[in-house]
Amino acid sequence: KPPVVTIDGPSGSGKGTIAKLLADRLGYALLDSGALYRLTALAALNAAVSLEDEARLAEIASNLDIRFAIAGGEVAAMLEGQDVSRDIRMERVSMAASKVAAVPAVREALLQRQRDFRAAPGLVADGRDMGTTVFPDAPVKIFLTASAEERARRRFDQLQGRGVSVSLRDLLEDIRARDDRDMNRAASPLAPAEDAVVLDSTNIDIDGVLQKVLELVQK
Ligand code: CDP
Repeated sequence: KPPVVTIDGPSGSGKGTIAKLLADRLGYALLDSGALYRLTALAALNAAVSLEDEARLAEIASNLDIRFAIAGGEVAAMLEGQDVSRDIRMERVSMAASKVAAVPAVREALLQRQRDFRAAPGLVADGRDMGTTVFPDAPVKIFLTASAEERARRRFDQLQGRGVSVSLRDLLEDIRARDDRDMNRAASPLAPAEDAVVLDSTNIDIDGVLQKVLELVQK
């Protein structure tokens, strides 16, 4: 089986950025598992399905018509042939994704799809439960964290850079609420795999983290 490098961690830890850089560097495929939950949420919102209706949500997750396309070096998320990359990042979709992700039947429905991303010469898988549930046999597992304050600050800088005005306090509250939901759900709660290397990026920049991750992969 082709090797998998799993990168799990909380919202805003920088794992998406690291996963992408690492996949480029190694020439591996990339799985952004959060995008699958976001696509499920968007499809549910589009179909006006209640986020409480677990059976319908699972059905939507099983029948999702999705594709990831490369456009200009960026990965575009396609839902029923439409590029929805921007839509799935909207706040209401993020909120819905976090709810949809707490439904065990949805996680079950997305499991095989995620495993199907495994391909030669290898895969970098980014998420919450890549190392624990989806690819428990991955040879390299990383759990990337940073303090909630630092994660909120990064998000703040990012939004300010885009000219969006937000309060740091609100962002911190938001991050804490998401952490809480991720860590306390019944199905695949956020936690490092037993054999994961935990990296705290509070005081390290992206380049520093990438160097450490490359060392682990090349070991
Ligand atoms: O990290 P961020 O919150 O910005 O978003 P994401 O990684 O795109 O994940 C979107 C949502 O899906 C989050 O609320 C996670 O709780 C959930 N998720 C999950 O449950 N399992 C995964 N493997 C990936 C994401």
